[in-house]
Amino acid sequence: MEQSRWLRRTGPARLEYGADYNPEQWPRAVWDDDVRAMRTAGVTIVTLGVFSWALLEPAEGQYDFGWLDDAMDLLHRNGIAVDLATATASPPPWLATGHPEILPVDADGVTLGPGGRQHWRPTSPVFRTHALRLTRALAERYRDHPALVAWHVSNELGCHNVHDYSDDAAAAFRSWLRTRYETLDALNAAWGTAFWSQHISDWAQILPPRRAASFPNPTQQLDFRRFSSDALKEHLRAERSVLREVTPDVPVTTNFMVMGDTRGMNYADWAAEVDFVSNDHYVQPGPGRDELSFSANLTGGLAGGRPWFLMEHSTSAVNWQPVNRAKRPGELARDSLTHVAYGADAVCFFQWRQSAAGAEKYHSGMIPHAGEDSALFRAVTDLGRRLGDLATLAGTPRTPARAAILFDWESWWATEADSHPSSRLRYRQEALDWYTAFLNLGVRVDVLPVAAALDGYALVVAPILHMLPGALATRLTGFVAAGGHLVTTYFSGIVDENDHVWLGGYPGPLRDLLGLRIEEFGPLLDDEAVTLDNGATGTLWTDRIDVTAPDVEVLARYTSGDQAGRPAVTWRRGASYVSTRLGPAGLAPVLGDLLARAGVTSELPPGLRGRVELAVRGGYRFLINRTASPVELDDGTELPGTGVVIVAAR
Ligand code: GAL
Repeated sequence: MEQSRWLRRTGPARLEYGADYNPEQWPRAVWDDDVRAMRTAGVTIVTLGVFSWALLEPAEGQYDFGWLDDAMDLLHRNGIAVDLATATASPPPWLATGHPEILPVDADGVTLGPGGRQHWRPTSPVFRTHALRLTRALAERYRDHPALVAWHVSNELGCHNVHDYSDDAAAAFRSWLRTRYETLDALNAAWGTAFWSQHISDWAQILPPRRAASFPNPTQQLDFRRFSSDALKEHLRAERSVLREVTPDVPVTTNFMVMGDTRGMNYADWAAEVDFVSNDHYVQPGPGRDELSFSANLTGGLAGGRPWFLMEHSTSAVNWQPVNRAKRPGELARDSLTHVAYGADAVCFFQWRQSAAGAEKYHSGMIPHAGEDSALFRAVTDLGRRLGDLATLAGTPRTPARAAILFDWESWWATEADSHPSSRLRYRQEALDWYTAFLNLGVRVDVLPVAAALDGYALVVAPILHMLPGALATRLTGFVAAGGHLVTTYFSGIVDENDHVWLGGYPGPLRDLLGLRIEEFGPLLDDEAVTLDNGATGTLWTDRIDVTAPDVEVLARYTSGDQAGRPAVTWRRGASYVSTRLGPAGLAPVLGDLLARAGVTSELPPGLRGRVELAVRGGYRFLINRTASPVELDDGTELPGTGVVIVAAR
């Protein structure tokens, strides 16, 4: 990662607070109310212009910056900084109708129409030309504006348009493949095209994996995912180049979406492209709050442990889930402070004032429909005050834990590809299960991109590390040889970077390390479960394990199902294997044992473990109540339900 840069700002360091601000949705008179209320709430920064293209460039090449000048000046007069968007996220109607060749095409060949947002092909040269022209115009206009502290490229790149199957995409995919493979022989070998009569004899025969009669070639699908992530990254770089040329002193960021099931963008690969990492996170009812913590933690990992910018989350309900629950009292502050605990130096929301019209009018904002006289605005103001008091945290790195969970986008993609032994595996859920198990035991763990340095970690968990290139296998083996403890799970170490199976028995390059060999997988049907002799229940998967080394310890055996009597969980000189999905409850005893072997202990008193989550940064301990009930801390004070206390580390 390049040396990270924070906002172009003077004055004492502080945690920033704010929102997406869309003044163009409101009459001018409301803006004065807005800035007054922002000051009341402790707002220090807003993101401006995210969806403003149609108003900034109402006709091709004709700009109307007057209203934006006014908004920038007004904000500056009120001491509020601006993270200015390049406004290219959503093309205006004149562009989409005048140049329909910018519109994305789905896998079925359907062209997506305008009328929503983000209806552009990442590889469209026409779109790129228009987007870069607007970017340059904005950069030149606002380069010296004192409110400008950062550039916000586009918005949530890939939220709706990551996989485009258009002819532009086909051409760009071919050129990406030429760079990757150089020769068709190499491409044919990597794609395994001897299978199903897929041999390619001319580059022109290569297409995106459009809807096919049967499973498209798996390596083609994998490469298309890589290419699609890269195509958006190229767009980020293209806008960034213009911005750096015109305003070299202004840092550039774009908001990632490390959350839930969003998987199209390999953020581990994008993180080095921005001056500081930004993330958007929305809580979803199913995965719950541990998912928020996991995402914040992983975002911190992407930022290399340095501070990052929470660009968006919600004060209360969103509008895009089947049912949109309001946050309960305390959740607003707890969610925000959890992000801060894992390194956020800015806490921002979508959006400042809840819209009265448009598709997001039922999405919460900092000022709800009810106005400032509302419990929500009071909670927003309280949080602003609290963040103001935490200025000493600004700029501080997180304190590394002794355990880590590795996260790998390519294994995510490869694990959940089609034509597999089971379509039920969920890569991120397995990682999250382990995370919850750590939290349940009260043990801190860092979530890291798989390429992160592992020095200093005593225990590393690599859940479903399905794609294991040889170099990574060597690195993990070296980590164990150097005294580290590695845990991996079912369906790990199965394929190389081309999605070719490592032969000779599973899990190929980890067989010797683990001292076991698997000849056949044993996926379970939806209504099947197996029991283990430690009392746990396994679902989803089993392996028929043969132990191949004398020093393998069997930590748990199957007591039912096809593998009854065989090992379920093993350990060999610091390398451990878990062959079924145990879920957080089933993982707890296993993880407890592995932590003890690795010498990793909880930093919380026994009474708090599981109920309280601990994070440490900048010499402060964050104690986050995971429950809705009060918890008595060891100093006799009470941590309210859903509450967070931040105390100087002893
Ligand atoms: C994000 C987006 C925002 C807003 C928000 C609603 O995807 O960047 O503009 O739509 O979600 O949750």
